[in-house]
Amino acid sequence: MQALVLAGGQGTRLRPLTLTTPKPVLPLAGRPFLAFMLDWLRGHGVTEAVLSCGFMSDGVRDVLGDIYEGMRLRYVIESEPLGTAGPVRLALDQGVLAERLLVLNGDVLTDMDLTAELAQHERTGARATLALIAVQDTASYGVVPTGPDGMVEAFLEKSEGPAPTNRINAGAYVIEREVIETAVPTGRAVSFEREVFPHLVENGLYGWAAEGYWMDIGTPERYLEATYDLLSGRPESKLEPRDETGSLIGEGCLTAGAHIGPQVVLGAHCSVGSDSTVERSVLHDRVRIGADCHVRGSVLADRVQVGDGARIESGALVGAGARLGEGTVVAAGARIDPGVAVQPGERVA
Ligand code: GDD
Ligand code: MG
Repeated sequence: MQALVLAGGQGTRLRPLTLTTPKPVLPLAGRPFLAFMLDWLRGHGVTEAVLSCGFMSDGVRDVLGDIYEGMRLRYVIESEPLGTAGPVRLALDQGVLAERLLVLNGDVLTDMDLTAELAQHERTGARATLALIAVQDTASYGVVPTGPDGMVEAFLEKSEGPAPTNRINAGAYVIEREVIETAVPTGRAVSFEREVFPHLVENGLYGWAAEGYWMDIGTPERYLEATYDLLSGRPESKLEPRDETGSLIGEGCLTAGAHIGPQVVLGAHCSVGSDSTVERSVLHDRVRIGADCHVRGSVLADRVQVGDGARIESGALVGAGARLGEGTVVAAGARIDPGVAVQPGERVA
């Protein structure tokens, strides 16, 4: 089985983290995000994954290479952003597409049963089958009402007003190559959600009711939520055991005299000074935090340095290599760009 993973978006909602690391390989609970997705695909019989990259494609290839746990990885690189369907057309034009394939949004953490989706696709003779998951708030997704037999009745991408169903597009499709050949033009950006799927309504497009864990990690809130969920063991994953505070401490970390947890991820070679508290936060690799600091509900990218007595409040994102002076206060939800130096005592809102 072949899967094509859409991994070329700019990850704007996760800036500044995605200014230095592409979203598909952003560390999630200490592993490149796509590692979770590739484990999941492999568990459903996928032997080859085509990674569709554009924005910062080298960053993806450098991290994942050409083989992952026996699975072949191929890269299709676009020079201009081609949207969600355009990259699949490019892969077709480059001769790499199988007759039937899975297409995945490259920012979804899930354990849903792709094998069952494939079985339904086969049974109905669909041209394309979309995994649909129930969510509470449908606003930032594609809403997909279906008939009793699973036939898709409409595809409403991020539309306003009351939603006709709480089932949304989960970003996991089974597609026949013929659909790409006939419904996706070559050489320009094309959106599955806005062009291709609406056109396929009542023309071979089916929905499959997915269950289980599902999270799009593309916003800071959901990135953190997915982190906490992984730490607590749902979904299941290959993570190392967590400590008694439910935290994951990377190799070579120095934390003597610091209070770490609950629900913290420390990347490799981080240090946290004495009497500092880090809770419900993610530190990527080589982050250094001084003494008497408070960090809560935040994400600090690689090599961030934090001076003594600093406070970083909920929802803050600090870009790679930023340096926060002593006594700095980073307000809730603030974002600091990579490499920026914040002066001692300064407050960043
Ligand atoms: N190669 C390539 N080129 N990939 C792209 C491009 C592009 O130009 N633009 C976006 N992508 C990739 C992103 O990296 C991501 O993995 C995937 O396509 C979806 O893009 P997002 O930007 O994350 O879309 P979204 O989350 O707002 O909405 C999509 O996902 C929802 C579920 O999470 C839609 O498919 C919705 O219908 C869906 O409900
Ligand atoms: Mg997304």
